[in-house]
Amino acid sequence: MKKIVFALICVFVSVGYSYAQEKISIEIQPYLQNLSDTEVTIVWKSSLESVGWVEIAPHDGNHFYYEKRPQFFDAQNGIKNVSKIHRVQVTDLKPGTRYDYRVFSRHVTSREKNKVYYGNVASTKVYRHAPLSFTTPSKDISTFRFAMVNDIHGNSKRMETLLSAAGLDSLDLVIFNGDMVSIFDSEQTVFEGFMTDAIRLFASEKPMYYTRGNHETRGVLAPSFKSYFSPYAEAIYYAFRWGDTCFVVLDTGEDKPDSDIEYWDINLYDQYRSRQAKWLEGVLKSEMYLKARHRVIVGHVPPFGGWHGNKEIEEKFMPLLRSASPSVMLCGHMHKYVKKDKDVKTCFPIIVNSNKTILVCSVSPKNLKINVINEKGEIKDSIELE
Ligand SMILES: [Fe+2]
Repeated sequence: MKKIVFALICVFVSVGYSYAQEKISIEIQPYLQNLSDTEVTIVWKSSLESVGWVEIAPHDGNHFYYEKRPQFFDAQNGIKNVSKIHRVQVTDLKPGTRYDYRVFSRHVTSREKNKVYYGNVASTKVYRHAPLSFTTPSKDISTFRFAMVNDIHGNSKRMETLLSAAGLDSLDLVIFNGDMVSIFDSEQTVFEGFMTDAIRLFASEKPMYYTRGNHETRGVLAPSFKSYFSPYAEAIYYAFRWGDTCFVVLDTGEDKPDSDIEYWDINLYDQYRSRQAKWLEGVLKSEMYLKARHRVIVGHVPPFGGWHGNKEIEEKFMPLLRSASPSVMLCGHMHKYVKKDKDVKTCFPIIVNSNKTILVCSVSPKNLKINVINEKGEIKDSIELE
């Protein structure tokens, strides 16, 4: 009898031990969202339900282990989130400053009434690895480079080739202007479609700003877009400053009428664009926009093309934009290159990037120079905007 009791104790102890030792890992490496001169949001995914936090250190030559670093938690309304996806807003940063960071996920093994039981911790590495880092833009940056990719529809290899052709290392920020996947159906579709490679290539350390195309509005994960991208922004459409340049990122929605059979009676983009137009009107009158030297409008669907979406952009956004004198509007969606020069009707230039080229924009106090570069690294067109 004693032997049986002893064997049972051994089984319970070993099961308990292996349960307590369940391994947790960082499944999706961290990526930056909504980087501004004083804030950044860091998103990552752990393999198990966990609480998550970010530790931040100035990039001053001291080792990350030099002293206890300030912690920023994934939390809402005073409670730490227990989740696999973590979103942490880091605030009170200094403009024009480089920071190192490390993310942590602490496994929550179980909960019982008010008690919370914890297991192992996973983190990004700093021991024999350089920590991840990012640099906030200073308010007076007047010379920088950014690139825009769109419509790769899950062809991650093409995205990588285009970013490499653009000289990724020399870029300060990257814009994904929609239809990065054909359907926003699952984490697997989105991350295997482009994000895993984007993170490996740059997105842990270089900011990426994402605007939805019409294809990101489709699929089971589509309502959760904001859980992964711009999670703390008020909406998926947003504006930000990079030095003396203002970017206004529109969410142009679907291309066909909401009643189209393809949308299964789930879309309300006409209403959504009307509400967005009210927001746009305010942004275009803001100091952030008016005091900018260059003003770049980003939107997936262009205001021409003859479909319902094009008509909506023309009717709801273009009258506001015409009176706000942007430097340029950058679009995608058409899978071909179209350049509309400033004329009496349009009032500002509009560039539609194709699905097989990348726009590389060099911003300087004098002008905004845009090169259209193909996968071979050839410059197919070059535009200088005074
Ligand atoms: Fe599209």
